Amino acid sequence: MPRLVIGQNPCDQVFVIAKGEPMKPTLAPFPATRLRRMRKSPAMRALARQNTLTVDDLIWPVFVMDGTDDETPIGSMPGVTRKTVDRVAKAAVEAQAMGIPAICIFPYTGMEARTEDCAMAWDPDNLTNQAIRAIKTAAPDIAIMTDIALDPYNINGHDGFVEDGEIVNDRTVEALVKMGLAQADAGADILGPSDMMDGRIGAIRQALESHGHQNVAILSYTAKYASAFYGPFRDAVGASSVLTGDKNTYQMDPGNSDEALRLVERDLREGADMIMIKPGMPYLDICRRIKDSFGVPTYAYQVSGEYAMLQAAAQNGWLDGEKVMMESLLGFKRAGCDGILTYFAPAVAKLLNG
Ligand code: PBG
Repeated sequence: MPRLVIGQNPCDQVFVIAKGEPMKPTLAPFPATRLRRMRKSPAMRALARQNTLTVDDLIWPVFVMDGTDDETPIGSMPGVTRKTVDRVAKAAVEAQAMGIPAICIFPYTGMEARTEDCAMAWDPDNLTNQAIRAIKTAAPDIAIMTDIALDPYNINGHDGFVEDGEIVNDRTVEALVKMGLAQADAGADILGPSDMMDGRIGAIRQALESHGHQNVAILSYTAKYASAFYGPFRDAVGASSVLTGDKNTYQMDPGNSDEALRLVERDLREGADMIMIKPGMPYLDICRRIKDSFGVPTYAYQVSGEYAMLQAAAQNGWLDGEKVMMESLLGFKRAGCDGILTYFAPAVAKLLNG
């Protein structure tokens, strides 16, 4: 960053010199400049507004469970339910009608589906793949996104295979490729590897190319931090009680920022179409750095814990729920994001559509 020097120029204008650059007059002094002029009325504010939130910006994460015509609430995510495949398809029809461009599927798997070899992860008839097919039939215009990681099917709750206490990389990547291919075969439009293994984007991209899935996009969970904000999600998918240890050897350290740029560069080179930062609100600086550095389609995940804290405060009457929902999401746009995965998606769409 160039050092800023502030001073007066001969025309009595305040100017700012970035070291090594020519003088740039910026603001006339008060009262010639009164910044409140541009905030005086809704019309002036509308003219001056740089960023807006639209329905086009939304990706809606949903939880799928076994059964028919049923849904169960998730205690730590007020307003969110796990839905059976038919109910998820119905929700997708409504989302499509509201103009939400994409829906993202997460499975809630029973204990019997969780094994050491994670074989259910690439079963063509697992919950995710059933949901993909049901949504494609019911709501063909909405883009379907998936999650690629072994945790819903792993006996120990980790995103990769565990050998002697270590989460092993390369063997996991082979499994993730099979998982991604099964999702693409079922009709997924966007694959979302959330596992944070090294080399998975290249491996998945190569497999997609060689299996006739050239047009399937990859939205890489590129800068995914080892975060305590995932707590309610782990309740939602039944992983909280299963997980042994933590995910610190594969998810990013919350103290790091430069590493996110290295990961983005790596994932782009390997064939990612879109980049994700996760969680969202505590990592807006990372969103801005990534957007400024690469200018690629950039998304943030406003995760379960962010949703839970806003909802909890709203339910207690401590915050205006609708207003903080909109303000928090606008913050992502201002930080450079092209879209946001948010559990608020249907509520936002309803509000924006009037
Ligand atoms: C699992 C996965 C997680 C989330 C999305 N995919 C949790 C984790 O990494 O433990 C979190 C989403 C949320 O908190 O809303 N691979």
